[in-house]
Formats: sequence, structure tokens, C-alpha cells
Amino acid sequence: MLQPIAPQLLQWFQENRRLLPFRQEPSAYHIWVSEIMLQQTRVAAAIPYYNRFVAALPDPAALAACEPDALRKLWQGLGYYNRVNNMQKAARIVCEQYGGELPADYDALRGLPGIGDYTAGAIASIAFGIPAPAVDGNVLRVFARLYNDDSDVMQPATKRLFTGRVLDQMPKETPGPYNEALMELGALVCVPGTPHCESCPLSGLCLGYRAGRQAELPVKPAPKAKTPVAVTVAMVESPQGLLLQRRPAKGLLAGLWQPAAWERSLSREELTAELEKIGVQVTWEEPLPAARHVFTHKIWNLGGWQGHAPACALPEGWVWAAPEALETVYAVPTAYASYMKK
Ligand code: ADE
Repeated sequence: MLQPIAPQLLQWFQENRRLLPFRQEPSAYHIWVSEIMLQQTRVAAAIPYYNRFVAALPDPAALAACEPDALRKLWQGLGYYNRVNNMQKAARIVCEQYGGELPADYDALRGLPGIGDYTAGAIASIAFGIPAPAVDGNVLRVFARLYNDDSDVMQPATKRLFTGRVLDQMPKETPGPYNEALMELGALVCVPGTPHCESCPLSGLCLGYRAGRQAELPVKPAPKAKTPVAVTVAMVESPQGLLLQRRPAKGLLAGLWQPAAWERSLSREELTAELEKIGVQVTWEEPLPAARHVFTHKIWNLGGWQGHAPACALPEGWVWAAPEALETVYAVPTAYASYMKK
């Protein structure tokens, strides 16, 4: 057993919590949006997205009604687009079944698309004061060190064990501040690698620190190797704009727009032939510099050519995107960002 952590933890949180936009008006909707964004992005990077998103879509009804391309445009750069697709599905259910407000009930929240144990716990505790645990990677790291526990934190059994400890330590009258304080401690002090134990409010009772093992914890399995995929890109401009194609409605980056690209290695001549199939008569200018984008399971190794073509009619799913429309209408994956800047 470990001594109670809540008194020092909550005191520290009161004095050190960051003033983040979603902490100013912590409605269930605001917590939901912020927690989905923060699963994939650091706080500093997420803030401008968060502000833009809640300004454009201030409540579940607005999210439910948002046109899918506009929704993807708001999310452009955050990645993991199925998260925002699921948010829209959930918002529609919230409007149909819960009168447009997220339900103040852990199981009802957990039943919504894209809301797992962690997100349900975060919304329930922070927005509604329900004593539910919210265990993310930060909290697993904090608890692995506090208990000097070298169990593999990616194992479901370890998550269950640690979640039990998080609940044992939870002061049932202040579950929201307690959960947020644990996340904040993990983000600011009990960081991955070498933590800042000298400024930690819990170092006096931390068993990992006492054993000098804080830098070795938590224990995780080696990450799986990612599959490399060659992607050949054609950045083709006409007087009407940049050639874009819509990605398939299912799978990776579903429904987003991208420059003409093929998920295999193509020579310049093969690229010319592919573009001829859609009626584009390209003149090449120069090769594109090599670029790389890492996804969860694969790595894209990008290359290709830049050129120009006369404007022409295009088949379904292809457009010439004018510069202004590129800014406002078409969501293009970050994988192409270095080519799009030009
Ligand atoms: N990371 C994920 N959610 C967080 C929150 N609510 N506060 C601080 N860091 C977080």
C-alpha cells in the first residue's frame, strides 16, 4: 500500500495548474472536444485547434449538423480523422437521445462512438463530478512510478490493476480535480524519460523514486515495426489551380483531399501515363524533395515530380483547387504539408 496521495497532489494542482481554454468554461462538450484532441496532440499545439473548433461548433447540435468536408477542414493537421468522424456520430446520438446535452452518466457516455474508458471518465469526473477514473498514458506512468511497479502498462490486466489503485486513491468528493491533477503531474513533472522528482509534490511517498527506478518506469513492450510504403506524388498546377483527388471514403485519411499520388514507386514516365488516364497533359519541371510521414502502423516515403498542365475537365473525385479554396475548403493531410507550402 501507498500513503494517500490526494492531499499533496490537489494542493500542488491548485498552485500549478495551467490556465487552459477548456478549463475556463468546463462544460461536458468542452471537456469532450479537448480530451479527444489531447489524445493525439500536446496541449500547446492543441489550443489553437480547440479555440477554432468550439468557436465554429459551439455545441453538440452544431457538430451534428456540420458538413463533413468543413468538419475535416477544422481538424486538418490534427490527424486521426476517424476521431472527429466518431465525434460527429456521437453528437448526432446526443441530439436524438439526450436532448442535445452530453449525458451525466458514465455508462451512457461510454456507449457513445469514440468515447472509451478514459474519455468517459474524464468527462464524467471533470464536467459532472462523478467519481470515475480517467487513466491515460500520463496516469499509467505516474502510477507505475508511485508504486514502483514494472508490469507492462500496455497489458489490459495492468491497466485494470492501476485503475483500481487510481480509484483507491481518489477523494470521492473531488474526482475531477484529482483526475486532472494526475494528468497535469504527468504532463509537467512526472514526464517520460527523466522526471523532475526534485519539484514533485509526491516524491516523499513515491516508491519508484525511493528505489531510484523512476527513469526505468513505466515498462512498455518494444514498439511494433512500421511498414514502409513508397508514395509517388505529382504536384500539377494548371491556370485553374492545383490538381487534387479525393481519397476513398473508407480507410486511412478517408475522404480527405490530396495531390495526385500513388502508393507505389512510379517513374516520371509512369506518372505521365497515369495522369493521361484522367486527361491531364503534364509538363514536368523538377523532382520533389524526399519527404517522410509516420503513421501509427506505416511510414510513407514520399517523392515525385512537380509540373504544370493546361486546364481540362476532370473525372469525378478530381478537382483543380484554386489557392483560396485550398485555404478554406479542402482538407489535405499533413503528410503532404511540405509540398503544399510551395
Ligand atoms: N492531457 C489530457 N487531458 C488533459 C487535461 N485535462 N489536462 C492536462 N493534460 C491533459
